[in-house]
Amino acid sequence: MSNDLHLGLEGIAVAETRLSHIDGETGTLLIGGYPVEELANEATYEESVYLLLHGHAPTASELEDFRETLATHRELTDEVHALLRAAAAADLPAMDALRMGVAAANLGVDLDGPHAEACRVIACFPTIVAAYWRYRQGEDPVAPRGDLRHAANYLYMLTGEKPTDAAVRGLETYLNTVVDHGLNASTFSARVVVSTESDLVSAATAAVGTLKGPLHGGAPGPVLEMLREVHASGDPEQYVREALDAGERLMGFGHRVYRVRDPRAAVLETAAERFFEAGGDAAFFETARRFEDVATELLAEDKPDRRLETNVEFYTAMLLDGVGVPKELFTVTFAVSRVGGWLAHALEQRADNRLIRPISRYVGDERRLWPPLDER
Ligand code: ACO
Repeated sequence: MSNDLHLGLEGIAVAETRLSHIDGETGTLLIGGYPVEELANEATYEESVYLLLHGHAPTASELEDFRETLATHRELTDEVHALLRAAAAADLPAMDALRMGVAAANLGVDLDGPHAEACRVIACFPTIVAAYWRYRQGEDPVAPRGDLRHAANYLYMLTGEKPTDAAVRGLETYLNTVVDHGLNASTFSARVVVSTESDLVSAATAAVGTLKGPLHGGAPGPVLEMLREVHASGDPEQYVREALDAGERLMGFGHRVYRVRDPRAAVLETAAERFFEAGGDAAFFETARRFEDVATELLAEDKPDRRLETNVEFYTAMLLDGVGVPKELFTVTFAVSRVGGWLAHALEQRADNRLIRPISRYVGDERRLWPPLDER
């Protein structure tokens, strides 16, 4: 057995997958074999998730059945509502509330087999987030509507108003863009859980906990704050120079895998442009674009050996803000999408399982004698 150390498992393949493929050198992302650019703009979220769970784009009748199944699993039990009320009253962040709600997703619900379990978990994510948010605002939750699509129903439950088509399309493009992305940390968590022959609710709960960390899902909130500050000052160059002189990292730039611009940034930039041209704050969007140009140029001067371009989080901030998702809910909205990828990976792991059990290299003391209590 090799004793080589692979901190962070960087560059180590530990699973085979048909779900998504990333080429960091060319900036290519395939989801279920389709370029992200196509899936993001053409599919509904339900179609993307069906593709991941079943390996093919659904026929009209398969899609109809899948939509209906998801719609029937949206409601939360009273016990979960009580948890979310408590989370909101205690000022817990949205990711904590989501983790608590997901952990109880199978409470009081009859689930027949893994497909029903996956549908239940995916369907209840938006309801958990929206109910928590309404409690947080001192308002009653809005019951889900079975006649609305996944994305539309999410926005509807947040505000109580039927969203515009432009907002739904914007959110749906976002959800499709981030639904799966190789073996990222939260997806790996989900696969580890299932590799012990544990269940999907446990896998999703672990994945939410993993996504919560700022190194994984937490960048778009700070990106929005940064862009608002730059929009107010009107001077992106000064902002970037000061940040780089202070040794800070620019949020929304750089990526562990991509050595070119993250292809998801381009998809979301186009989606945001479409959305803002149709009636949003176009001047704010222009600030984001100008900031990207200035920052990319100054980062290239500052780090000539490392290409640092926008990652997925940069235009995520613009798009989610535009369609009306509050900044506090950016990371949970990422989870609302990514849960589709998590569970598809979990089922893929289950279909051809080997317990994931790496080793550690011991660097502790050789051998010690256990000291009696009064000698310590
Ligand atoms: N701004 C300024 N400099 C940067 C940035 C940045 N955003 N990103 C990397 N660098 C610099 C580093 O300081 C380092 O410079 P040095 O060699 O002089 O010390 C060099 O580029 C290489 O950095 P690494 O830490 O090796 O890059 P890594 O691949 O580990 O980091 C990461 C990737 C974490 C995304 C990083 O680029 C970063 O912190 N970006 C800002 C936060 C962000 O946008 N996160 C969201 C990522 S997208 C996602 O995960 C869904």
